[in-house]
Amino acid sequence: MKRFLSVIMAAVLAFGVFSLAGCGSKENTGDNKAKEKLVLATSADFPPYEFIGDDGDYKGIDIEIAQLIAEKLGRELQVENMNFNSVINSVQGGKADMGMSGITVTEDRKKNVDFTDSYATGVQVIIVKNDSEIKSVDDLYAEGASYKIGVQLSTTGDIYIKDDIDGKKMSCSVEEYTVAADAVAALKAGKIDCVVIDNEPAKSFVAANDGLKILETEYVTEDYAICVAKDNTELLADINKALSELKASGELQKVVDSYIK
Ligand code: ARG
Repeated sequence: MKRFLSVIMAAVLAFGVFSLAGCGSKENTGDNKAKEKLVLATSADFPPYEFIGDDGDYKGIDIEIAQLIAEKLGRELQVENMNFNSVINSVQGGKADMGMSGITVTEDRKKNVDFTDSYATGVQVIIVKNDSEIKSVDDLYAEGASYKIGVQLSTTGDIYIKDDIDGKKMSCSVEEYTVAADAVAALKAGKIDCVVIDNEPAKSFVAANDGLKILETEYVTEDYAICVAKDNTELLADINKALSELKASGELQKVVDSYIK
């Protein structure tokens, strides 16, 4: 009896394995090999470029473009969410294949990672409360001005403001927040006087929070690009090729247009 049962069990198991394998190969049209992962480092706190949707999924322009790139490379996109100040490090250290997080190309960053061709531009703008006495960028640079300026840690906004404070070009102080939305919340709560951040996220945050506005005067214009590790020239070339195809076909613009009206 025991022996009979184990024969049956073995048969059932074998059938199970066999049919699973059958299913798998049908789905992969004969190719049983799992796709190589393309690990994306991003900081999903930056709508409309990268954020977590109501359904808990990663969404945004960068996420969708990264997905299209992964498809072109025949690889499976894996999103690794982290604080912005870790994105470049994780690419540099080889923990992620690429960093895409509304990242501005800067000469300093180029020392640590390589950048692809640019796929978007950003503008640093200033968010204030509706009734703020700060009317333009110049007010931040006025003699004796002592505003508290909120920024996201390690972003270009953070770098510019700190440089200008260190260079004694302004007398304001800087408050760094690890997560972009926390800077906006602090502004709402009156803990700081303004937030320096990229224009599209600024629009998203202002739309989602009453009582805030973006100052007309723009601060700095910059290019966004994807970063890869310094020695990863092959991936750099592959991504650039994918990007130029996505630009030429209009697919890239379609993604942008679906988020930015
Ligand atoms: N463009 C700015 C920079 O490169 C801000 C990017 C912030 N990105 C983010 N996902 N929070 O520093």
